[in-house]
Amino acid sequence: MFNILVVNMSENSRIIPIGSDHGGFELKQYLIKNLSEAGYKFKDFGTYSTESVDYPDYIHPVAKSVNDGLYEKGIVICGSGQGANMTANKHQKIRSALCWDTEQAKLTREHNNANIIALPGRFVNFDTAVEMVKIFFNTEFEGGRHQVRIDKIPL
Ligand code: RB5
Repeated sequence: MFNILVVNMSENSRIIPIGSDHGGFELKQYLIKNLSEAGYKFKDFGTYSTESVDYPDYIHPVAKSVNDGLYEKGIVICGSGQGANMTANKHQKIRSALCWDTEQAKLTREHNNANIIALPGRFVNFDTAVEMVKIFFNTEFEGGRHQVRIDKIPL
């Protein structure tokens, strides 16, 4: 007998992979709670407590899942957002954008077709972060001259 793993992309495209280290844990939980109530669905890659961990261990799996096409866009969080952003951007098909306000979240979708939003858990208002995520996941890429530019990013 064959065991065939069928990944339902249309279903997965509505699920948001999310991961953080301890510095981003509280914001991750806040986003999952508040956005789940608004109908968003998440795949939580951890971490699952405020115990100190190494952010690449939790950010790489999120970035890999988007890079592999399992999910469309994701969220990574650490204390400053910097380490999470750097880690995610090591994946060839990832364009991760460190965002700290709603305008950044909108622009990086419109101009960079960012597929991961990196958030600074210790430097952003949590309700602002909720708004940033809503905007990030509901703003379309403009294409055109911006497509030409993002095509020049990969080495
Ligand atoms: C952890 O203390 C902190 O270094 C981490 O969350 C992040 O800010 C790294 O870039």
